[in-house]
Amino acid sequence: MLRVLHLTDPHLFADPEGALRGRATLASLSDVLAHYAAGAWRADLVVVTGDLIQDDSAMAYEHFRRLLGGLELPVYCLPGNHDVPNLMREAVGKPPFFYCGSVERGNWAVVCLDSCVIGEAGGRVTASELARLDKILQVSRMEHAMVCLHHPPVTMGSRWLDTVGLDNGDELLQRLSGSERVRLMIFGHVHQDYDANHHGIRIIATPSTCRQFTPRSDDFAVDDNPPAYRRFELWPDGGVDQELVWVSQT
Ligand SMILES: [Fe+2]
Repeated sequence: MLRVLHLTDPHLFADPEGALRGRATLASLSDVLAHYAAGAWRADLVVVTGDLIQDDSAMAYEHFRRLLGGLELPVYCLPGNHDVPNLMREAVGKPPFFYCGSVERGNWAVVCLDSCVIGEAGGRVTASELARLDKILQVSRMEHAMVCLHHPPVTMGSRWLDTVGLDNGDELLQRLSGSERVRLMIFGHVHQDYDANHHGIRIIATPSTCRQFTPRSDDFAVDDNPPAYRRFELWPDGGVDQELVWVSQT
């Protein structure tokens, strides 16, 4: 079995006190990691689905490296619309960090995709990213696959969020369902819980490690839900167990 710790949207600042809508993001990520460390459940690897930082600074990535490095696990990262690709690649391009990497373990292929469009909040998975994914799946002997990206491949029923989603989500889903091996897609960006099946694929968003957005809101709005992370257990027969963990502020 492959155990994956899913973290997303930490939105760190160079300033350790930096806050997103009133919540200090570094302290919030630290609380999440402390909660994980204090529990009995252990991950084999970590996936972080973008928006690692908020202020375009190399120092914010340094904070990320320091905190996540403490886990002593492989950390698979992909960019969100708030990331700075060249700074991020520099910060998380070497083991134990991986930038848009992939890994095979326990009959599962885990593939991180880049869905960002420079200068835009919404995203798109380019033909070259799709070709990279196809190639990985073609040569992989793993029977099941989890695809990770920043932007939601489906609409969220939230007017403002759905204007900054994934341009070609439907095309992506149809293509992935055609592969008959992609069982699960995970994403961030929406700062809220989401779990549904589309085209035979389980599609799951994990809330942010800091501030959450109000689900189904027409206009931008944040709510008082605490930081969160998700535990995945991926079974060799393709089964998926998961648990969303809310971390109350201390
Ligand atoms: Fe975000």
